[in-house]
Amino acid sequence: MAQWVTIWRAAQLVGVPRGTLQQRVRAGELALNDGMVSTASLLALYPQADLEATGLLERVVQIRDEAFGRRVRERLLPSQEVLAQRVFRQSQELADTQRHLQRYHALVLDLRSRLQALAAQGGDPRLLELQSQLNDGLARALATEPVDVLDVMDDMLKVVSAQVTLRPSGHQFTVEGHDTLLQAGMRAGLKLNYGCGNGSCGMCKVRVTAGQVARTVPTDYPLSEQEKAQGYVLACAHTAASSELTLETLEAAGPDDMPQQEIVTRVYALRPLAPDTLLLHLQTPRSHRLRFLAGQGVALGSGVGNDARSQHPIASCPCDDRNLQFFIPRDPDDALAVRLFDGEVKVGDSLGLSGPSGRFVLAEGTLPLVFAACDTGFAPVKSLIEHALSLDAAPSITLYWLATRADGHFMANQCRAWSEALDPFEYALLRNGSTAVGASQMAAAMRADLFDIDCAFYLAGPEDFVDTLRAELLAASVPAAQIHCEATA
Ligand code: FES
Repeated sequence: MAQWVTIWRAAQLVGVPRGTLQQRVRAGELALNDGMVSTASLLALYPQADLEATGLLERVVQIRDEAFGRRVRERLLPSQEVLAQRVFRQSQELADTQRHLQRYHALVLDLRSRLQALAAQGGDPRLLELQSQLNDGLARALATEPVDVLDVMDDMLKVVSAQVTLRPSGHQFTVEGHDTLLQAGMRAGLKLNYGCGNGSCGMCKVRVTAGQVARTVPTDYPLSEQEKAQGYVLACAHTAASSELTLETLEAAGPDDMPQQEIVTRVYALRPLAPDTLLLHLQTPRSHRLRFLAGQGVALGSGVGNDARSQHPIASCPCDDRNLQFFIPRDPDDALAVRLFDGEVKVGDSLGLSGPSGRFVLAEGTLPLVFAACDTGFAPVKSLIEHALSLDAAPSITLYWLATRADGHFMANQCRAWSEALDPFEYALLRNGSTAVGASQMAAAMRADLFDIDCAFYLAGPEDFVDTLRAELLAASVPAAQIHCEATA
């Protein structure tokens, strides 16, 4: 009998992005019932999942280099203790099911004997009919049917990677390897509440309403006895000890929910990406990470306080809140850029940071995403693309990148890597010395590829680039609410 699994789990089972399955749901090819899909309909769409898993039962013992085995093996396994807890709970469920089945079986046998005795007394032909129906039904139930391989794979995955559902949002994510609940949620692109990330501030408190958790690191923050009794735990210090877990927590809705932070960071790396563009990699202290949304920026300066600071978009994903990347263009009007290009700032030096700021963030929704960057406008776009990939919800992601400077597409390798690794990612690199003319050229390319598609557009770059492209998109009847803009230096 087919089981019902969530879209998240379904995507894991057949090895495709979640966005691909959502697209098939929207196209009416896959039925969604209360957020779940049946393993039978999944197998009908992806028969190769069955083929890949042929012989799975034998292989689970000695996982070899075939598709599902590889997918399991490639996942980082949790600690032995957590694995043992998940297996134990799964075994408990199995034992419960077996006990129930045995009781039902005994009940049916009793009924059959009773029917047999009544039928033997003669009189009512309906008793014979009922007896025959019961015997046929029992024979069918006890007949050996081929096992549904997706169900077996689902059971395996439940042990390897637990699934977490958040209430009231309904967001879901999986916990892999040694990740805490907080780390796993952030990897999935969720905007969970947190502060220190190391068990001392209490801001990541969540309430466990179903399932079990295990503490993975010691904590300083004292939860009250009442909080403990109500099921509260610190998400930054616990992982899932059962294969399914439901947590109650509030998530940030947008930029207004991001706290303003002041952090002294360390320059971890500084290297040229092109003659006029530097990659600045800052690292925060372990206990004071930057909470921000993809697409936002911060003000950077020499130290703490009110020294002259310049605003720069963050080029990395919020899922790594300790390692922050920036693309710094050469700019004589930017005191920090001048010091960086003059070699006055070295690896290991301190730099102050305040923020985050900006509203150029991903909107909720599952529209195809189109990103348009000009020069170092690629920085917030890169952060957004990485975030969108974590969310795994967009059916497709397209990037257009216009270079107007001699530095060109200073991270073309990154675009190539995304394109090679990810099915739903496509990109086009354009060149033009004029931002406005280049924007029109980009609009023409988009019209050729995209304008029959309902998309969400994210534009970042110099003001005239953004203004020109936005006007072209509006003229092409893209709703204003689907165009998000960020004017960068
Ligand atoms: S984030 Fe501070 S205790 Fe978890």
